[in-house]
Formats: sequence, structure tokens, C-alpha cells
Amino acid sequence: MRLSQLTLTDFRSYAQAELELQPGPNVLLGFNGVGKTNIAEAIGYLSTLSSHRVSQDGPLVRHGQKQAFIRAEAHRGSRQARLEVEINPGRSNRARINRGNPVRATDVLGILRTVLFAPEDLDLIKGSPTVRRRLLDDLAVQLRPALGRVRLDYEKVLKQRNALLKSLRHESFTATHESTLAVWDHQLAEAGSHLLKARLEMLTALRPHAATAYEQLSGSIRTARLRYLSSLEVEAGPGQSIPARNIETQNLEAQNSENESESSSEPEPVHAAVNASVDASALESASRQELAELMLQGLASARREEGQRAITLVGPHRDDIAFTLDEVPVKGFASHGETWSFALALRLAAYRVMLDDDPSEGAQPVLILDDVFAELDARRRRRLAELAAEAEQLIVTAAVDDDVPASLMRHALRVESVDQISQVTPHERD
Ligand SMILES: Nc1ncnc2c1ncn2[C@@H]1O[C@H](COP(=O)(O)OP(=O)(O)OP(=O)(O)O)[C@@H](O)[C@H]1O
Ligand SMILES: [Mg+2]
Repeated sequence: MRLSQLTLTDFRSYAQAELELQPGPNVLLGFNGVGKTNIAEAIGYLSTLSSHRVSQDGPLVRHGQKQAFIRAEAHRGSRQARLEVEINPGRSNRARINRGNPVRATDVLGILRTVLFAPEDLDLIKGSPTVRRRLLDDLAVQLRPALGRVRLDYEKVLKQRNALLKSLRHESFTATHESTLAVWDHQLAEAGSHLLKARLEMLTALRPHAATAYEQLSGSIRTARLRYLSSLEVEAGPGQSIPARNIETQNLEAQNSENESESSSEPEPVHAAVNASVDASALESASRQELAELMLQGLASARREEGQRAITLVGPHRDDIAFTLDEVPVKGFASHGETWSFALALRLAAYRVMLDDDPSEGAQPVLILDDVFAELDARRRRRLAELAAEAEQLIVTAAVDDDVPASLMRHALRVESVDQISQVTPHERD
């Protein structure tokens, strides 16, 4: 998959910018703040309808303007599509495909596949569980665009269920309250089990690729491991054994919960014992219906505590992923370079999961590496360049030319200013 042309209108710093992109590597060079990441972000947005830098669309529109457009010519083998996304903060975004009538923006999902790695991805390791859940959810939605709707449904039901719990906070539940909650429970379990199933599938698919990519990048003998931490899992009480979660992941969770309490939007992990019979491997092999059943059981067990705390304590919105090198958590233990390599390995694994999902000619995702090389030592740079060379199209940004391995400099563009982007000749680089 590749883009041949990209046009930005009132996107970030650009009033109007046009770029010709080539198959293979495209390197965007330029000083700090000149607008390189803005271009990488636009390509990512066209594929996922979300930015890797901000959660709201407002900052994507140029100051003083009301809407932004991203337009591109996308190629998949011999097929070609003209994509246009119109970003309207505060109102619905729209899309046009092949210059047709405007359609819902979500109709473009699944057409252009991208994998983007950026410095913000260190938050995959260091940030709150939301970032890690998003890794799985975004990958699942790229592979199965219909899950985008399921995700929105889940968030909607969760919000309504939480509002109900809040309104009942100081009351004892009557039979009417119970039956209203039961309706929400079923809707939550329905959407939640689809989401959870998709996440577990993504995790299972990522696992071997993340281990391989980490090893290839770092040359380390330690294995990169991923483990889903579900609010449906058994939580050990005092004096009990800990069958489902080992000590390291519990440490990790303690750190996560510290982190979460800093951001008021996210509650700390559940501490209620919910499903004494469930552990992580059982979850991974459970069917969607079984997961829905487990969620219902979990909600029933957590009912009392939910009543007291007035929030929903069970479901995929409470889950996390533990990242370890062998058994040692990455967060809090790994070096800066190891942390960086781990995050990068996760993105490269996502790239390979997409390849496995659709191995057909021309279906390879566009790989975008924003400001990555400067952070890596010489060996890791070389290895990343080798791995990235597999991509049908690669977009790289860098502030310092020398940070980019020479093998990728075949097509380099210098972003001089918001209205000037020029081709770099090999002579200029010397
Ligand atoms: N909505 C917006 N309207 C106008 N300008 C914006 C908007 N959002 C960001 N910018 C400007 O875009 C510039 C940042 O661009 P970008 O992040 O692409 O830089 P960069 O070339 O990647 O820099 P670095 O090398 O530091 O990563 C900043 O000058 C910022 O003020
Ligand atoms: Mg940048």
C-alpha cells in the first residue's frame, strides 16, 4: 500500500501543502517545529481518524480556521483511490472517496493501512493503561473496521451505566433499580465481550512478532513478553496464592494505579475478587459468548462495591497489558534505550500482524517513523533501517540528516517552511 500524493488544507501549520510521495523510503528533513510531524500525523489520521498526539480534533485545524482537509491518492496493488477527509471539530467529520458524495468519515477506515511510530509511543510503556488499551483497540479497528462501532457502543453504555450508579449512590437498590441495572449489564457484556475478544486476539497475534522484533532490534537474549491483565481475572486476597498474576505484574499494576490516580479521568484498577476461576490463559481461549457470561458474573460479584463507589468496576475499560523482558517489568526497570526498543518492537509487531491479516500483493501498511532514529544507538539504527526497508512505502521524519541511515535517503524532502517543501539532492546532503 502506498500514497502517491498528499494535499493538506488548513491542517495544523499548513494553509496548503502538496507532496509527491514515492514507493519505498520518503525522508522528511527540516528544523524543529517546521512541520514534519504534522505531515506524518496527517497520513496516520487518514488511516485511523485519530491523531497520535491529541485526543480531540481541535488542534488539527489551523489556527483561526474552522475545518481542515487531508486528501491523498492511495494505491493498493493496481487499484487506486482518492481519499478525502474533512475535519470539523465539534461537528461530524466527513469523507469523500473517489470524488463521490460526502459520506461518514468512518467509511474511510480500512482503506489505507498505516503503522506509525513516534516519540509519544514511549507512553505505551510509561503512560497510563489507556494508552496500552488503545494499542490493541486501534489495531483491531484497522483490521476489522466494524469494531469501531462496537467500541463507541461500549463507551456509550458504560457512561450511561456509570450515570445510573451515581444517581443511586446513596440509595439501597430496589427491585426496579436491579432490573434497570441488569439491562445495562447485558448491553455492557454484549459490546464489552466483542471488544475483549478482539483485544485478546490482537494480543495473541502481537506476542510472537513483538518478541522477534525486540530481539532483532536489540540483539538481546531477553524475551519481550506481553500479558493481558483483565478485570475478570482472579485477584488474590490476603494469604491466598496468586495463580493468575505474578508478583512483577502486580508491581506493575501498583505503578499503573499511581499513574492513574494522577489523571482524574481514570479510576484505579479493581480490587474486588470477581471470578475466582478465571486466569489469563483461560480468557485467551474463551469464546465471545463465554466472555460475555464471565463479564455478567463479574458484574454480579462486583455489584456491592460498585454500589458504594458508583463506578463500573468490571469490563475492558479497566484492563491493561503487562510488558516484561523475561519476567522483569519494562516500566520502571528497563533503560531508556530498552524502553524505546520495546515500544518500537510493539509497533513493528503491529505492522507484521497487519501483513499476516492480509498477505495479498499491495496490502502492506505504510510504515511511518516520526523522529525515531535520533534516539537509537548505531546498531539499533542499522537494524531498524533493515526492517523498515521491507515496507512498500516508508515515511521517515528527522531534524538532523545524519541521523537517518544512508540506505533510506533515496528520496528525501526538505521541509523548509510551511509553504516550501523541496527535494534534497544527494549532493546537498554531502
Ligand atoms: N493548529 C495549528 N495551527 C497552526 N500551527 C500549528 C497548529 N498545530 C501546530 N502548529 C505548529 O506546527 C509546528 C509544529 O510542527 P511539527 O510538530 O510538525 O514540527 P516538527 O517539524 O515535527 O518539529 P520537531 O523536529 O521538533 O519534531 C509548531 O510551530 C506549531 O506551532
Ligand atoms: Mg516532530
